Amino acid sequence: MDAQRNLTVAVAGGTGTLGSAVAEELRGRGHRVRVLSRHSPDHPVDLTTGQGLAGALAGCDVVVDASNSTSPKKARTTLVDGSRLLLAAEERAGVGHHVGISIVGCEKVPIGYYRTKVAQERVVESGPVGWSMVRATQFHELVAGVLAPLARCGVHPLPKARLQTVAAVEVAHAVADVAERPALRGRVEVAGPEIADLRDLALQWRAAHRSRVLPVPVPLPGAVGRALRAGALTTGRPDVRGTTTFAQWLAGR
Ligand SMILES: NC(=O)c1ccc[n+]([C@@H]2O[C@H](COP(=O)([O-])OP(=O)(O)OC[C@H]3O[C@@H](n4cnc5c(N)ncnc54)[C@H](OP(=O)(O)O)[C@@H]3O)[C@@H](O)[C@H]2O)c1
Repeated sequence: MDAQRNLTVAVAGGTGTLGSAVAEELRGRGHRVRVLSRHSPDHPVDLTTGQGLAGALAGCDVVVDASNSTSPKKARTTLVDGSRLLLAAEERAGVGHHVGISIVGCEKVPIGYYRTKVAQERVVESGPVGWSMVRATQFHELVAGVLAPLARCGVHPLPKARLQTVAAVEVAHAVADVAERPALRGRVEVAGPEIADLRDLALQWRAAHRSRVLPVPVPLPGAVGRALRAGALTTGRPDVRGTTTFAQWLAGR
């Protein structure tokens, strides 16, 4: 099926790391894009209450949900309850396609945020609107965003964790491809070009920033540590493989 042209696409979380890249990619392909978020100047919405959704979604063909909350108190309300409110509003507005965003391997790592993502996937995949689910690995931006403030404290505490980081802009490209096609009722996995240990990524970050931050290996006990060491958040066979390595991404900033 050919990609659809001239769509009106709402990007929930369209001011965030992934959402802003998705909005830019879709605009570049000639679609009409509405950026939805609490602080959006044009389409302020709050997914925890549903406020603003009816007006923001009227006339939309597709919704990409790139909203996020990692706060232990707000993640469930924003992502799981928020998805229910968003899908109900989409159904009322006649939206034909909901593109959800999730995480490669999230069902394999027993931490609260990943459980929330699994619950959000279930809400979308059993919901009233035709759906596609794009699962991505961790963004280069996330790793850099964790390492930078730690470096200001002089220490990088580093558990052993195999990651396959990917540039958010490459995930956005894959999300836009999915948004332009009819609902898959299935998943697409997007992953970075190489699997690397967090400790090696931190050394790359240190070199790129000529930082003297002290890397400190720390143990991560239990099921979470085992899963991360075993590469539960990586995939050997992604549907889409990004090409920009973490080192290249750091060099290009
Ligand atoms: N970061 C990663 O490494 C990574 C990897 C794989 C998958 N993902 C997935 O990608 C998606 C986007 O993540 P991200 O890191 O790009 O997020 P992000 O940068 O934290 O952006 C979150 C967005 O959600 C909006 N938002 C938060 N609470 C809201 C609410 N109550 N109502 C409406 N909008 C709200 C924020 O805008 P306002 O503050 O203006 O509301 C912002 O636009 C998530 O599903 C995440 O699980 C992320």
